[in-house]
Amino acid sequence: MKAVVFKGVGDVKLESVPEPIIENPADAIIRITATSICGTDLHMVRGTMPGMKSGTVLGHEAVGVVEEVGSAVRDIKKGDRVVVCSTIACGDCVYCKSGEFASCERANPNGSDAGTAFFGGPAMTGSFDGLQAEFARIPFADTTLVKLPDAVSDEDALLCSDIFPTGYMAAEICDVEKGDMIAVFGCGPVGQMAIASAFLMGASKVFAIDVIPDRLEMASRQGAVIINYDHDDPTKVLKQLTNGYGPDGVIDAVGVDAQHPSSGPAAGKGVLSAVSNIVDQKMVAPWTVLFGDQWKQGNAPSQVLQWCVESVRYSGVVSIVGVYPQTAKFFPIGLAMNKSLTVRGANCSHRKYIPKLLELVEKGDFHPSTILTVADGLTDAISCYKNFDKRLSGWVKVELIPAQSENIC
Ligand SMILES: NC(=O)c1ccc[n+]([C@@H]2O[C@H](COP(=O)([O-])OP(=O)(O)OC[C@H]3O[C@@H](n4cnc5c(N)ncnc54)[C@H](O)[C@@H]3O)[C@@H](O)[C@H]2O)c1
Ligand SMILES: [Zn+2]
Ligand SMILES: [Zn+2]
Repeated sequence: MKAVVFKGVGDVKLESVPEPIIENPADAIIRITATSICGTDLHMVRGTMPGMKSGTVLGHEAVGVVEEVGSAVRDIKKGDRVVVCSTIACGDCVYCKSGEFASCERANPNGSDAGTAFFGGPAMTGSFDGLQAEFARIPFADTTLVKLPDAVSDEDALLCSDIFPTGYMAAEICDVEKGDMIAVFGCGPVGQMAIASAFLMGASKVFAIDVIPDRLEMASRQGAVIINYDHDDPTKVLKQLTNGYGPDGVIDAVGVDAQHPSSGPAAGKGVLSAVSNIVDQKMVAPWTVLFGDQWKQGNAPSQVLQWCVESVRYSGVVSIVGVYPQTAKFFPIGLAMNKSLTVRGANCSHRKYIPKLLELVEKGDFHPSTILTVADGLTDAISCYKNFDKRLSGWVKVELIPAQSENIC
């Protein structure tokens, strides 16, 4: 079968690989009908999320049809149309039973302390072959798959595989309440879903910060007040727009590949700022040096964490869903402590949110697929990766369809 394969940092290929087979009685095999590329995939190809094994199939977002189930699978049947939870969970351990599926004790073959298990990730997350492929093996299928109602389209369901639950969780752990003012750093797919979710939870105002014009425009169409960090200093503007206090909550939807402003009042002042960004970058990805404008690492990994802590009001909440590797060590703890902040971060426990979000979609209350801007065949995956990585205009979220061989929108 065809699959997108990680070969090394800065090297991703479409290759023929063996079709997956049932390995454990709780597994299922699905035929993938739609998959997508995520900002998390970019961290891995850029080398800022280290530890990938060469040969791993990438991708952790998909919708499909069940082809085969193992002898221990009870709820999922051959022929079911399903969405895959990006994180793999057993459904049965202490954490899973309390809804903390990302902390599952049994899903990660590296042991209970190895962290969240997910598809297409670094060695320490499993590793499990991912979902940018024609078929995939799904461990703990009864928990990791969710059956789809007929009324939910593949496109809406695809966004429920990772991005919508993550954006929703970002707003939830930000304690968004009716009337709150919330700032979302990053207007990629996760940021867009965090903006939508903050509004769904009753925020009176959402501020959206980025630098890419079409992503800012998309945020503005959702009703957010937009701030371009190359034009304005986001921390100053956020204070001005909130009566001098700062937003009640702030969300980091950027992660380790954060950029420093290249112009405007927030751009670095002098040698000190440049040196601190280089040290910051080297702590995160010490061995990776890539040249050119493809697979470019963020030049200021802690920039968004700094802005979040500086801009939020005293006693506010910082919600971190942007991904950081364990090598990232810079966080403005002194300022956070002195401002009496609540700081939360998490890998999404997809299984906890997906059924509820599918209900919302089925009722017609919200359609996350509005952020899909490109649909293409899986065979075009590598050029899609390159365009998404460069954040070209019109490349906010990319759907890849294994059964389709050409560009369809
Ligand atoms: N916690 C989870 O479970 C989970 C799940 C999915 C994705 N994620 C993470 O969420 C993050 C966003 O994912 P995505 O798919 O939207 O990625 P993306 O790469 O498409 O978007 C990131 C956006 O951040 C913007 N950005 C860069 N520097 C910035 C800065 N200093 N201030 C404001 N914006 C800045 C970029 O221009 C871009 O639009 C990634 O780190 C991804 O790994 C986390
Ligand atoms: Zn994702
Ligand atoms: Zn578990």
